[in-house]
Amino acid sequence: MSDRLFIFDTTLRDGEQVPGCQLNTIEKIQVAKQLEALGVDVIEAGFPVSSPGDFNSVIEISKAVTWPTICALTRAVEHDIDVAVEALQYAKHRRIHTGIGTSDPHIKYKFNSTREQIIERAVAAVKYAKRYCEDVEFYAEDAGRTDNEYLARVIEAVVKAGATVCNIPDTTGYCLPQEFGAKIQYLMEHVDGLSSGKAILSTHCHNDLGMATANTMAGVLAGARQAEVTINGIGERAGNTSLEEVAMILKCHKGIGIDTNINTQRIYPTSRLVSSLMNMPVQPNKAIVGRNAFAHSSGIHQDGVLKNVATYEIMDPKDVGIDDNSIVLTARSGHAALKHRLQVLGIELSDEALDKTYEAFLRLADQKKEITDDDILMLAGADRTAAHAIKLDYLQVTTGKGVRSVAAIGLNISGERFEASASGNGPVDAAIKALKIIIRRKMTLKEFTIQAISKGSDDVGKVHMQVEYDGHVYYGFGANTDIVTASVEAYIDCINKFKKN
Ligand code: KIV
Ligand code: ZN
Repeated sequence: MSDRLFIFDTTLRDGEQVPGCQLNTIEKIQVAKQLEALGVDVIEAGFPVSSPGDFNSVIEISKAVTWPTICALTRAVEHDIDVAVEALQYAKHRRIHTGIGTSDPHIKYKFNSTREQIIERAVAAVKYAKRYCEDVEFYAEDAGRTDNEYLARVIEAVVKAGATVCNIPDTTGYCLPQEFGAKIQYLMEHVDGLSSGKAILSTHCHNDLGMATANTMAGVLAGARQAEVTINGIGERAGNTSLEEVAMILKCHKGIGIDTNINTQRIYPTSRLVSSLMNMPVQPNKAIVGRNAFAHSSGIHQDGVLKNVATYEIMDPKDVGIDDNSIVLTARSGHAALKHRLQVLGIELSDEALDKTYEAFLRLADQKKEITDDDILMLAGADRTAAHAIKLDYLQVTTGKGVRSVAAIGLNISGERFEASASGNGPVDAAIKALKIIIRRKMTLKEFTIQAISKGSDDVGKVHMQVEYDGHVYYGFGANTDIVTASVEAYIDCINKFKKN
């Protein structure tokens, strides 16, 4: 059996389904190019029939990327496949990913169908896709809860129909690692065409019980040769298996004898780019890419690491692209240095956007001694609010211990200036109350997180918010060295997204 694991990245499809993480086409192209540089084998670029935006993104990513296979998702429906074929027309290497639910709850409640009819629909979809595309992947949705004997019949039928990759998703993140590994092993032993290499099995694990990576590895050890993953493990609900974990497990455990094509030194910049564009913070203790992943804080650990890093470090941070000696930009850095750093981070800006980013960079450099990669990513994304109708003009807050906070705010709404002031039990509360005096809508703050980008009291704070209005939840983001300003900007970002009734 091959000792190569193909990496199928679905950050731009399953990852992008996360509410509030939607990217525009230009941002998706940036991520796709970064994934290409990272060395992924397959990029799942979208679900073309689902929206004109997804359709267009698959077209543009196909044009922008050369080496990876571009994959488009469909249901087992001819129209979906027709639309996917059209969206993939410019891909240098293309794949259609079609499939249907195979577990009893899916067959009974979703399709009101029978096991035999589901096999017929699966085979028909694969045969139909095969007319237009040599590379067809089939997914058996909810395979994790599908009984193995029936799943083997489905997979054998679709391999016979021409599927070259069979995806075994643990859609609900329910399986235990030994159960999932046993499922893959059962299929390897009972499906004609797998051991001969006519088709390979793929894992697609969700993290609802925190076992996505463990399940993926169990599947790989049992014979799967493709892993479906996302950067930072983003994805619906608790997310998908994270690319960086699988790549680094195989790199650290050479004894397994399976390699990927991933250039691991690109992992960290890719993680930062995705987190920044999607406004999705990475938890500090996230394996491989979290802020604390390589930070030894206990005295015993620090002492050991200073004597020899091998005492407590199983991988070199440089292997994942974390370089403490990387150039830090300051107020004296020029335009060219900023452009170069942006390129290293996978961001190409037009001359006009670069000029604006450079101006913002100089303003931030006045407030902060050193500008980090995260700051630069934040600045490069700052322009996304340029088209907003409502902008924060000024904010002044008086706060402290033993006094009630008071805020005065000025908003620019489509060119007109509005002002208000209010008091509250803290600076953010006062500022938002003042904001609400101007924006008279019934809106409720549902979620509010503040995160420092890197370290230091002069650091930029990132704020993520969810505001409910008229039965919908809107996601907003703000970043500023002043966390009250960042909070108000995040709130305003939400308001700018309210659907016009
Ligand atoms: O989780 C899942 O089952 C999926 C399929 C559509 C591949 O994302
Ligand atoms: Zn999924």
